[in-house]
Amino acid sequence: MGVMESELKIWLQARVSDGRYQHSVGVLETVTALARFHEVDDAPLRLAALLHDCAREYSNEDLVAHAEEWGIEVRSVDRQSPVLLHGKLAVIIAERELGLSEPAMVSAVRWHTAGHPQMTLSDKLFYLADVLEPTRPEGWVLELRAIAHEDVDRAVLTAIDINVGHLNRTGRTVDPVTYLFRDLLLRADSTG
Ligand SMILES: [Fe+2]
Ligand SMILES: [Fe+2]
Repeated sequence: MGVMESELKIWLQARVSDGRYQHSVGVLETVTALARFHEVDDAPLRLAALLHDCAREYSNEDLVAHAEEWGIEVRSVDRQSPVLLHGKLAVIIAERELGLSEPAMVSAVRWHTAGHPQMTLSDKLFYLADVLEPTRPEGWVLELRAIAHEDVDRAVLTAIDINVGHLNRTGRTVDPVTYLFRDLLLRADSTG
């Protein structure tokens, strides 16, 4: 038997700021609606929502130290911008502290930070929910919300561009994997 959502909420609340907690609950609500609309299993994604940012408020030093300790590859880009590691760390924390390792949950959490060329539909819906949840700024969210129901890949492309634009404006590093993923989606888009 897995951990119950209510327990997981209490667990998360003890680890992150109130704003981050509200964001996570927002992702939970948004991903549930998106998953049901697209007929994807929402159960692992609901758990993913409460786990995905559990390491988001770790210091840079802690992110790198835990990654090294737990055998996660630390690339030079991760040293430059340790926050890129927070999804991969969350996967290990879920397993170690909660015994959670459901594959669809794991891959949604692992790839939510930077995206990945091998993302499944379920992973993509999670990536979108992270950007679309109700505590995000209103304007662009509305448009993206409509696209997310019509064309998931096009919505993901838009979400990537929003994320990359935000990282550029705030002077933060973009994971090279994000560009690989974006190129793949663009190619798929132009072929059909
Ligand atoms: Fe995150
Ligand atoms: Fe998030």
